[in-house]
Amino acid sequence: MKTVMTSLAILLLSYSAVAAVPAIEMNQKAELDADTLVLLVSPEQLAQSSSAVLQHKAIQHAIKTAEFKAKKAAQLDVLAEVAGYNRVVLLGTGEPKDLTAATSNNLGADIAAWIKKNKANSFTVDATAVQAGLSNADFAAQLAHGIELRSYSFDRYFTKNKAEKAKKLEILVTDEKAAQRQFSKLQAVTQGVFLARDLVNEPAAALTPETFAAEAKKLEKIGVKVRILDVPAMEKLGMGAILAVGKGSQRPPRLVVAHWQGSEQKPLAIVGKGITFDTGGYNIKTDSDSILRMTSDMAGAAAALGTIKALALQKAPVNVVAVMAMAENMVSDKAMLPGDILKSAAGLTIQVTNTDAEGRLVLADALWYANKEFQPRAMVDIATLTGAKVGAVGTYYAGLFSEQQSLVDQLTLAGEKVDEPVWRLPLGSQFADEIESDIADMKNTGSSTGASTAAWFLKQFTGETPWAHLDIAGNALSRKDNEVNTKGASGFGVRLLTEWALQQP
Ligand code: BES
Ligand code: MN
Ligand code: ZN
Repeated sequence: MKTVMTSLAILLLSYSAVAAVPAIEMNQKAELDADTLVLLVSPEQLAQSSSAVLQHKAIQHAIKTAEFKAKKAAQLDVLAEVAGYNRVVLLGTGEPKDLTAATSNNLGADIAAWIKKNKANSFTVDATAVQAGLSNADFAAQLAHGIELRSYSFDRYFTKNKAEKAKKLEILVTDEKAAQRQFSKLQAVTQGVFLARDLVNEPAAALTPETFAAEAKKLEKIGVKVRILDVPAMEKLGMGAILAVGKGSQRPPRLVVAHWQGSEQKPLAIVGKGITFDTGGYNIKTDSDSILRMTSDMAGAAAALGTIKALALQKAPVNVVAVMAMAENMVSDKAMLPGDILKSAAGLTIQVTNTDAEGRLVLADALWYANKEFQPRAMVDIATLTGAKVGAVGTYYAGLFSEQQSLVDQLTLAGEKVDEPVWRLPLGSQFADEIESDIADMKNTGSSTGASTAAWFLKQFTGETPWAHLDIAGNALSRKDNEVNTKGASGFGVRLLTEWALQQP
């Protein structure tokens, strides 16, 4: 058993770049001798046949035959030799004034989906004619970002090499320097998202609290300060909550701290739930589909670490610290039992009325630590916390809980911008009696399985610091290829929190 675990860990640690992502260049003039042209076209340009390609007979014929109108995301694949290309794909932009960063990402995602499906190796994407609601450079950069995000694949466990040729792509733009500058920042974000996706996609035997900590350590080479608290260190601090969750597993818990200090301001703190597997503990999960998805129960921690990577790679002038509470919620003779009473680092005692409400326990100590150690000007925690959140707002929105209107506004705006939207749910003392215990300071579940009860529980560990809680249950895994996501881990939260950190006043 031991050898198997070690070799899996080594596999994980030797993980490298994703080959399926095409190399993207921004050019003012076509430099790639590409086989395929992807021409972005608006309804107006179509009506005016505004370029030589659009005027070409074969293209005109295809447009008429297919009744192509250049509506947003409409595609027309013309298998004809035109202007030196083997094939031309027209991609409708819809009304350019309606284009946003998010819709530009999604157009890019459509291009990536097309590339994956079709046998072509090099692409010229002509984005010069697009006069979007964004500048042409922003549009092109967001388009390229969407292409990268959708090109992700997690294929390291396939034993047959699919031996795909590396694909090359150039985007024609009006200002290549500006487009490249914007794109470089977004490429840093892509790397953060890919890190989060990789970590979430890894099965629990490969991704343990320890191997997660090792992955965090790797960020030291890009200037991130990393600190890892092992069991004795957590015992010293009295972290009875995270220790109780982790003690049923032979893979011990860790508190992982990753700090990107790109400015002298007081830090922002991001606190992530990192349950590398959630069996439920003795309140075991009995539905086979639900328990299978619990390899993703560390998605909050993955998003926190991915955000730090995204900020560090672009050397962002912000000060952000991530505190990630890593543990495995198992059943064993060492595991916590329903009814156990724990003492958290904050000094509050907690009666464990349900071992499956483990996320709030690990977060209790992590929130306390982030607050005490860094005195942040604001804290946001991110966690796959409750099934009730999915029932309330589904899997497209994250649940947002906060009593700070400024944090609500900032996170809502950031979420809209990057299309990782949040929806506010109630938080307040109405939920206080839900977690009143007869024999301890509080209990970890109420009479209902509510998302707001969980949020109220967390609030008890945040002191006076402005704080928001993001419940990302259901956001972490995508059930199918969709927009910028591929089936499996989405990396939800990296783009949202990176945007939030960058937009801080
Ligand atoms: N990790 C789960 C929540 C979850 C559910 C995440 C579905 C992603 C998809 C969490 O630890 C949990 O088990 N929550 C319980 C809480 C209950 C026991 C109060 C739940 O939501 O049922
Ligand atoms: Mn649980
Ligand atoms: Zn959980």
